[in-house]
Amino acid sequence: MENLTIIDHPLIQHKLTEMRKKSTSSNHFRTLLKEISLLLAYEITRNLPMSEISIETPMEQVNSLTLDGKKLALISILRAGNGLLDGILDLIPSARVGFVGLYRNEETLEPVEYYSKVPNELGSRVSIVVDPMLATGGSASFAIKCLKDRGAKDIRFLCLLAAPEGVRVMQKDHPDVTVFTASLDRELNEKGYILPGLGDAGDRIYGTK
Ligand code: PRP
Ligand code: URA
Repeated sequence: MENLTIIDHPLIQHKLTEMRKKSTSSNHFRTLLKEISLLLAYEITRNLPMSEISIETPMEQVNSLTLDGKKLALISILRAGNGLLDGILDLIPSARVGFVGLYRNEETLEPVEYYSKVPNELGSRVSIVVDPMLATGGSASFAIKCLKDRGAKDIRFLCLLAAPEGVRVMQKDHPDVTVFTASLDRELNEKGYILPGLGDAGDRIYGTK
């Protein structure tokens, strides 16, 4: 599929298998998600713009690489996005952080917005939108439209599991946005849940139901 990168590192796949098990506790689920988010962040930031600066080592003057441009914007789709956000923020502590609060209407599966706060100057930052689940694609597509309305141009979307239906919606609504995922699962069920999936990500992270 176009604009889709599947990050199939063995460590990620092993941890993902543990997360899928229904016997995995919320505590362990959160720990695994944080560990995976570090590995995913490594991959999604692979081609960030860089420039050379002149520095002095204890030995000599040298031109050395540094991240270029304004600080990254990490945008978490509440609430499950925060499970991915924490690990990435450990790796990129200087990133600016935004939130788009959405929940899916259980009948229509359409996203309902309840909160939004994003960094300024999105037009000159790389934005990484995070949410563990890309199911129908409604939430991701809505959040990305919000960012574009506020000027964002260079946007990447990071999830743990994607359904083919959600990837297709992203390709149609946001063909300029690459989706990074640890797994492209089989399909959605009649209630919009990913199969084989891992259940409701927010409930599993926070122990709610
Ligand atoms: C989940 C998930 C995504 C959304 C994906 O959130 O974290 O945001 O569903 O589904 P979609 O691709 O069909 O839009 P949910 O609405 O359950 O809210 P929560 O994070 O507060 O649990
Ligand atoms: N949201 C979830 O948390 N899980 C799914 O399988 C689909 C949407």
